[in-house]
Formats: sequence, C-alpha cells, structure tokens
Amino acid sequence: MAEAAFRTIGATTYLCPLPTVLVGCAADGGWQNGGAGKPNLITIAWTGICCTKPPMLGISVRRERHSHALLLASGECTVNLVGEPLLFAMDYCGVKSGRDVDKFKALGLHAIPAEGLDSAPALAEAPAYLSCKIRQVVPLGSHDLFLAEIMQVSVAQAYFRTDGSIDEQAMALVSFVHGKYRATGSEIGFFGYSVASDAVLQRRMPGTSRPKPNRSTGKHGAAHARGKRPDGET
Ligand SMILES: Cc1cc2nc3c(=O)[nH]c(=O)nc-3n(C[C@H](O)[C@H](O)[C@H](O)COP(=O)(O)O)c2cc1C
Repeated sequence: MAEAAFRTIGATTYLCPLPTVLVGCAADGGWQNGGAGKPNLITIAWTGICCTKPPMLGISVRRERHSHALLLASGECTVNLVGEPLLFAMDYCGVKSGRDVDKFKALGLHAIPAEGLDSAPALAEAPAYLSCKIRQVVPLGSHDLFLAEIMQVSVAQAYFRTDGSIDEQAMALVSFVHGKYRATGSEIGFFGYSVASDAVLQRRMPGTSRPKPNRSTGKHGAAHARGKRPDGET
C-alpha cells in the first residue's frame, strides 16, 4: 500500500516561524525615579499583529507569570524586537522569573522610559520597540490573550539608512521554529513581488529574475506596482 503523503502529529501549536520578542512591563512607573514598580522583561513567542487600523498586536501570557500581574496593573507594555545580539538575553528572560531576579541587572541591560507610556520600560539595547496600551484581555485556556494597541514605534538610530529607510537586515532578527531559534537570513522577496513589474523588481531587488507572471494576475500586479497598498499591509 502506498504511504500517505502526510503524517498527522496531533492538534499542537505547530505554527512557525514565529517572532520571539521581549515584552517590557512594570506595575507602575516608580522605577523611573528609583522607586517601586521594578521593570521586568518576559520572552514571548505567542505574539502577532492582528489589526492594521488601529494598529494592534496580541501577546498570550500564562496567568502564573510574574509579568501577567504587571501587565494587568499598568495596562501597558513594550514589545522589543530581538536581534541576534539579544539572543542569550531573550532565552534567559524566558526561563527566569522577575519574581526571583532583576533580569535587567543580571544581563547588564538597561530599562528606559518608553515613548508615549507611563510605566512599561523599553529595552535600550533593542533594535526597535513598540509602545502598546492593552485594550482587551481574552482568557483562552492556558494563556490570556492581551490585545494591545500600538501607540508608537521607536527604531534605534543605527538602523536608519541615509535615505531614511530602515535596514531590517542589519537587525539580524531571530525567529522561533518549534522550540528552536533561527536566524531570519537575507531578503528573498517582498510584498507583491510575484506580480510586480520588472522595473519595480529590478529597483527593489537588483539582479533578481523570476518566471514570467501569469497574465491573469497582471491587473493586480499593476495595482501593487503603483503602490496602492503599503508594503506588508494585509
Ligand atoms: C522562546 C520562549 C518563548 C516563550 N513564550 C511565552 C509565551 O508566549 N507566553 C508565556 O506566557 N510564556 C512564554 N515563555 C515563558 C516565559 O517567558 C517564562 O516563563 C518567563 O520566565 C516568565 O517571566 P516572568 O515570571 O518574569 O513573567 C517563553 C519562553 C521562551 C524561552
């Protein structure tokens, strides 16, 4: 008998790759003046953008995490992107609790006030961070889903090119693939590249060749090439 093309492995969280982020949180802003409300970092892989207008993301956090109470108390968080230089810290913040250890201190990292927020710390060493206000908490089971509005995005000066664009490649962002950390590698396409005109393709990715687009998709290709939808907007 012929072997089946697929083998079932059960109803698991087998969605990958995912980003891993360092979520900054604190009960209040006291830490900024040397007072209470110690800042904390928690590693989160159950995260993703879930709305464009307003810009929103979700982070899923187990109720037993120290950070869970901080998120509820302040209604704020930062979502700090993780590049390879932060890989060790990202793993450490995912296995140590803020109940037991000051993760900033232990790792030699620095908490800074986040743009537009009162309490949640941003990570000074992150390539970029998103300042978020929590709008809804949805209990799902093992995790509570915090739905948060992105109020501001701050990108480290070092990642701006001279023309003002942002060099994400230089951030060396890390992804999470079923329990393992992976480098994201080099750019191999862009939003709409499958239907972009040759001129756009050569401007965005010089030297790239691809099979001729299917004529039936030509209309969509023209819309993308004229920039009707910003890159990556879904
Ligand atoms: C790669 C990675 C991803 C993780 N993702 C999540 C997650 O999405 N949600 C969660 O509740 N815990 C997640 N954890 C576990 C927490 O980060 C971990 O329990 C942490 O020590 C909690 O810190 P806290 O007690 O200071 O809040 C993850 C850990 C790692 C290493």
